[in-house]
Amino acid sequence: MVEIAPSLLSADFICLEKEIKRIKDAGISMLHIDVMDGHFVPNITVGPMVVKSIKSKFSIFLDVHLMISKPDEYIEAFKDAGADLITVHSETCLHLDRTLEKIKNYGIKAGVSLNPATPPEIINWVSEKLDLVLVMSVNPGFGGQSFLPNSIDKISQIKTMREQLRGKWKIQVDGGINTKTAPSVIKAGADILVSGSAIFKGDEDPADIIKQLKSTNTI
Ligand code: DX5
Ligand code: ZN
Repeated sequence: MVEIAPSLLSADFICLEKEIKRIKDAGISMLHIDVMDGHFVPNITVGPMVVKSIKSKFSIFLDVHLMISKPDEYIEAFKDAGADLITVHSETCLHLDRTLEKIKNYGIKAGVSLNPATPPEIINWVSEKLDLVLVMSVNPGFGGQSFLPNSIDKISQIKTMREQLRGKWKIQVDGGINTKTAPSVIKAGADILVSGSAIFKGDEDPADIIKQLKSTNTI
């Protein structure tokens, strides 16, 4: 069954504790935290202090998506704050292999994220160090954008690459995921769906949306 990682970006930041409790009660075990620096992406969000506060209150797997220009300089801080998985953008890493090695050496999981215009071939060279490949299905920076349909082909390609490489990593898809877009994304090969605005900003109860996303029928 597909796993859902709610993105905190669309939650009510004045009530983070209540928001996280709501999704935990809905059976969620992975929380996606979007870290933006106003440089790699045109938006600024949260840093290690917020990750640390969340970790101190909740036992939930923290999936930290770094959309920052110099990830190497902050990996240790996010690890110390309690990140269980750190995903870096391939576009920000001059030495991706070294960066992934650095994350793994801290004993946590490592992921690489690919912007919509970034070809997936890079995975060929770092497959053994990966726990996750994050396919961006919007241009990173904001919640609430529309899903880019050509992401479907990319997800399928990456799934094929995983078979060929015998990769152990999971495929995560992030951006514009809702009950309408989820079926084709799952069919193409996604293991984990990140969803922000559909869960936190819709008219329905987040628990209901999570349930619908989890039980998405792909046929
Ligand atoms: C976008 C972020 C996403 C974002 C997704 O740059 O990486 O995680 O929160 O939000 P929705 O689900 O609203 O597209
Ligand atoms: Zn994200």
